[in-house]
Amino acid sequence: MKTPILVTGANGQIGSELVPALRERYGESAIIASDIRVPAPGCDSDGPFERIDVTSRRQIGEVVGDHRIGTIYHMAALLSAIAEDRPQTAWEINMGGLYRILEVARRQNCAVFFPSSIGAFGPTTPRDATPQDTIQRPTSMYGVTKVSGELLCDYYAARFGMDTRGLRLPGLISNTAPPGGGTTDYAVDIFYQAIRYRHYTCFLAADTRLDMMYMPDAVTAMIEVMEADASRLVHRNAFNVTAFDVTPAELADAIRRHLPDFEIDYEVDPVRQAIADSWPRTMDDSAARAEWDWNPRFDLAAMTQDMLRTLGRRLGLVGRWRDHDREAHHGD
Ligand SMILES: NC(=O)c1ccc[n+]([C@@H]2O[C@H](COP(=O)([O-])OP(=O)(O)OC[C@H]3O[C@@H](n4cnc5c(N)ncnc54)[C@H](O)[C@@H]3O)[C@@H](O)[C@H]2O)c1
Repeated sequence: MKTPILVTGANGQIGSELVPALRERYGESAIIASDIRVPAPGCDSDGPFERIDVTSRRQIGEVVGDHRIGTIYHMAALLSAIAEDRPQTAWEINMGGLYRILEVARRQNCAVFFPSSIGAFGPTTPRDATPQDTIQRPTSMYGVTKVSGELLCDYYAARFGMDTRGLRLPGLISNTAPPGGGTTDYAVDIFYQAIRYRHYTCFLAADTRLDMMYMPDAVTAMIEVMEADASRLVHRNAFNVTAFDVTPAELADAIRRHLPDFEIDYEVDPVRQAIADSWPRTMDDSAARAEWDWNPRFDLAAMTQDMLRTLGRRLGLVGRWRDHDREAHHGD
């Protein structure tokens, strides 16, 4: 991968784990983190940071020029639920931001990573084993910006010979930064509530099946696709990637294996339920496996165990968690 690397939207859920992983791999000074929000004073962010609003071509251009950036990870965007609430702003940030990033990258010869999403599909897409190349008619503003972004990245690669690459990420589960207002946020919130209160009220219906991935796998995928041998890539942009598919009821069962007294109930939010019902239940990620050897490490059980252990330790409930874990695994 061409360095130095600029990460936009670096203070978000993905950026706050991607930046440390990139710094570990390429060196602290080779990674320039940026966001419209400046990190809070005293926040332990190591390494260079620049404030960039991605709707400003001038700000992007100055930082890319000053640091002689080679690759841009463009993470700044509004997520699905927020985008549906503020569709005009979502268009400005998601599409306006990507267009300006691509234009600066074209002029200053940078590679670009663009994170698309299962949101780029719609109700007419086959929902099971969703193919890599299929119908994409999303009905949410988020989805409209994601499928448009995929096409724009393809266009810049074909028309200007740029190295644009990307993934269609599923719902991401992380124990670091809180989620940013997406439809799959329940799969993170449920762990906090399970550890603190042994109870969670879910905003999606019990049988809503969606693809998910643990953040360490997502970060690995984002780095591997940019490092992949270009001559093997047929698709370049918008690779389907997934690790497992799960419903809220199944995730609650997986948690109950460790915390037997955990309970879940449901108060369905019609906006987020409608978005989830328009997304794939399971994606076919065979193109990513064939073209750059994608292979996730965490399945549902491994993710659940790691989330509970890591969050339990962080929330100061280590003793309680260990007792439950011992009880749950007695006789395993
Ligand atoms: N988290 C997921 O489950 C998921 C799944 C699929 C795809 N994605 C995509 O990955 C990317 C990052 O997602 P995330 O979960 O980290 O989102 P997030 O909402 O947690 O973070 C987005 C960051 O962008 C910043 N931002 C917002 N407007 C900006 C602007 N005008 N200029 C600069 N920065 C701005 C925000 O301050 C925030 O730190 C997004 O494109 C998202 O659509 C996320």
